[in-house]
Parts: sequence; structure tokens; C-alpha cells
Amino acid sequence: MSEIPLPLRLPAESMRKIGYRAVDEIVHHLSTLSERPIGRPHDRAELERTLDVDIPTGPTEAQDVLDHVVRLLSSTITHTDHPRFMAYVPGPSTFAGSLADFLASGFNVHAAGWILGAGPAIVEQATIDWLRRMCRLPETSGGLFLSGGTMANLVAVHAARVDRSAAAGGQELVVYVTAQTHVSIRRGLRFLGFNDRQVCTVPVDGTYRLDPSALDAAIRRDRQLGRWPLCVVATAGTTNAGTVDPLPAIAEVCERRGVWLHVDGAYGAPAMLTEAGQKILAGLELADSIAIDAHKWLFQPYGCGCLLVRNARTLTAAYSLHAEYLTENRLGDEPLSYYDYGPELTRRFRALKLWMSLRTFGADAFRDAVAHGIALAERAQAVLAARPQWSVTTPAQLGIVTFRPHASGLPPADVDALTRDIAAKTLPDGFAMVLSTELGGRPVLRLCTTHPETSEDDVIAVIDRLEALAPDSAAWP
Ligand SMILES: Cc1ncc(COP(=O)(O)O)c(C=O)c1O
Repeated sequence: MSEIPLPLRLPAESMRKIGYRAVDEIVHHLSTLSERPIGRPHDRAELERTLDVDIPTGPTEAQDVLDHVVRLLSSTITHTDHPRFMAYVPGPSTFAGSLADFLASGFNVHAAGWILGAGPAIVEQATIDWLRRMCRLPETSGGLFLSGGTMANLVAVHAARVDRSAAAGGQELVVYVTAQTHVSIRRGLRFLGFNDRQVCTVPVDGTYRLDPSALDAAIRRDRQLGRWPLCVVATAGTTNAGTVDPLPAIAEVCERRGVWLHVDGAYGAPAMLTEAGQKILAGLELADSIAIDAHKWLFQPYGCGCLLVRNARTLTAAYSLHAEYLTENRLGDEPLSYYDYGPELTRRFRALKLWMSLRTFGADAFRDAVAHGIALAERAQAVLAARPQWSVTTPAQLGIVTFRPHASGLPPADVDALTRDIAAKTLPDGFAMVLSTELGGRPVLRLCTTHPETSEDDVIAVIDRLEALAPDSAAWP
């Protein structure tokens, strides 16, 4: 019996064919990536001229569309999942996570209301609970999946505001950050309506960690001025250097002064899976809320952030939603609807990625992969320290090490220029990507070694390459 064509539906056989092809392309991408360049810089005008992105009024053969997309993706993106991509926080993602994304779309899961996605809600709850236990939060805790760290931080601060605003009695609220706090927090605070005066930048110590006594003094001063200290944003793994703010001391100040402690563990929190990380992140369990990006050090495709809160009720108090047309969703015995926990109504089933990856590989494999990233940065530090060309700026911490060329004859400004020059040259070179950041007002190079497939040989080859990319300099040893 021949298939009756349906609007906007490909015949079953075509769906199968291109679906299999798409899988083949992804597997090919993953298995050959390390032999290919990471990417190359693009010229906007050239891409606008040469990329065929017109929307036709009539159909195109699905196979041709797929081929076109695969060509486009393989030639115009930077592969953050490449084992020699050591900039920012690398984005290696498990195939199980990609399949989960595909399945969540294919079944078009509505992961918000109980009557639309009961099983997915239970999966999300179980995955959140796994993260909760990883962070050693109590059983009263809860949370939800969001698009990423930016949203998790923003949703946390708003929950803090709702939780504490009655006590504030209309006084101006203040949020405490440091110069090392991720830039997305300031943007999020602006979005939530905080002005610059309401954001207090607390000094850091010589190792770029928040100074708890300076925090205490700032809170005391604000109270005296009739302002209401709302929330401290501490970081468990700064993006610049992997440093962790002294969480126990900060938690003590917050507890004593009645201030909400939010910890941005977007990239660093998964280190809690390892013994070394548990020591470095001691005190994480004292947080009122924690942001974690599963699309960073838990190896998921992008769009997989998570927020945990110490008391799940603080999320429902801030976000629970009622609309007359959602009435039936409330029927039954304590239904679990994730639209009650955050700002989104219709939501993707993001938890499935992490859950499916954990089911496929087991939690121990994640622990080992994170431990590998921590050890690799320590190895990179040892290699850099042994070479006269480099000086280490900040030691290996949570998979990040920063360093500068050691050019003793050059004034610091010239070393700055050399540092930037080396980073910029990695872009067209395509062998590795190592970019710069700034610490103490000076540019530094930064290696982030969190990709589980990056090897020690890769790290050495990347450092060799940076030396080869440096311009000849009399001062370079
Ligand atoms: C510490 C930290 N916080 C927040 C973010 C923002 O997360 P996202 O890009 O997922 O929104 C990042 C990185 O991007 C980060 O490293």
C-alpha cells in the first residue's frame, strides 16, 4: 500500500535514509576530528556572499539539504569539541547526549507540564537529584535545567530576591561579586533591574579569590548605609584561572549576616565528582544556590545548564505559575510541573542529555574524565615550568593554567604584545586554539584541558606550536 503524502512530512523511507545519513555524518565528524584543523577565521562579507542560505518557496530534495548543512557546519564552525581546542571551556559532547537532543526533538517532548511530560519530569528530578548529591546539598534541595550558566545565575538571583525581599523592607538591595565573577552575572543583574550602585565589587586576594574579611566589611558598611545585602555570588572555578573563592569563610559571613550565597559553579562544580575536586570545592554544600553547566565539564551538547537551590520551595515561591487554561495540569497527587521552578513555560527536555549520557557510560566514567582534565592541566603546568620560554602566571586549578612568555629582556608592555600575538596566531593556524585573558591587568595565555580525549602528547604538541608561532625575538630564550 503506498503511503499517503502528508503536509510537511517526508515519506517514512526518506526519513529513515536521511536520519541514518545524519548519524553517519556525526560519527564521521567525531571519529576524524582530531586529524582536522579546529577551524579558521571567516570574513563576514565573503560568507554572506558565498553561503547559500536563501529560503526557497518550493521543496528541495531532503538529501541535498542535509549535504548542504553538513558542508556548512564542517567548514564554517570552530570545533570546540576538538581535543586541541583549549580556549574558553571546551565543548566535547557525548554522542549519547546528542542522541538525547535528537530524541527529545523527534518526540517533541514538552518538559514543563505534568500532563504533557510526566516521565520526563521524573527523569529531570532524578538527574537534578544526582547533581544535588554531587554538590552535597541536603534533600530539601531542588532545581531545574535551563539553557546555560547565564540563565542559571540569573534565575538564582531572582529567587534570592523573592525569598529575601520581605525582610529587606524596601531598602536598596546589594549583590556582591568580584572582578573575577563571570561577566554574564553583571549582565544578568542589569536584566533583573539592578543598577551599578547595587553591585558591589569585593576585593580579591593575591590569588584572585574573594577576600572574606573585605566582604564582611562591605556588608557591614552597606547595612549602616541603610542598604540590604541580598546575595553574594562566589565562584567555584573562575573562567579566567580556575580559582575557587574560599567558600567556607564566605558561607560563614553569609550565614552570620543573613545573606544568600549563590555559587557560580558553571564550569567548576563537576570537579566534585573527584576526590581532589571535593577538597578544592569544600564548602560548596553550604550554598543557597549553585549554577552548573552540564554543557561544560559534564560533556553535554550546548544548551544544558542547571540550577540547584538549597530549598526547592524558594524556586516555586519565585516562579510558580497559574493560568486558567493550566487547571487540569494541577489534578492528581502532587504533580511535578517544571514550569513552576523557573521562568520558562514550554521547555525543552534538557535533562535527557545528561541522564542518557550517565546511563550509557555510568557516573564513574564522568568522574574519571573530570579527573583526567584536572591532571592534564597540572601536567601542562609542569611542562611550561620546565621550559625557559614560559612563566606560569596561575598554577593549574580545575583544569586551567595561565602563563606568559618569559622574555627577560623585554619590557612588560612588549611581553603583553607578544602574548596577544601568539594567541591571535592560533586562529588562522588551526592546529590548536589557545586564547588570552587578563589577570592583574596583563594579558596571559590560558590552557583549559577539560576535554576527556585530550592527551598529554596533545598538550606538549600545543605548547610546541605556541613556541613555533611566536615571532622571532632576541629576548625569547
Ligand atoms: C564561571 C562561568 N559562569 C557562567 C558562564 C556562562 O555560562 P553560559 O555560557 O552557559 O551561559 C560561564 C561560561 O560561559 C562560566 O565559565
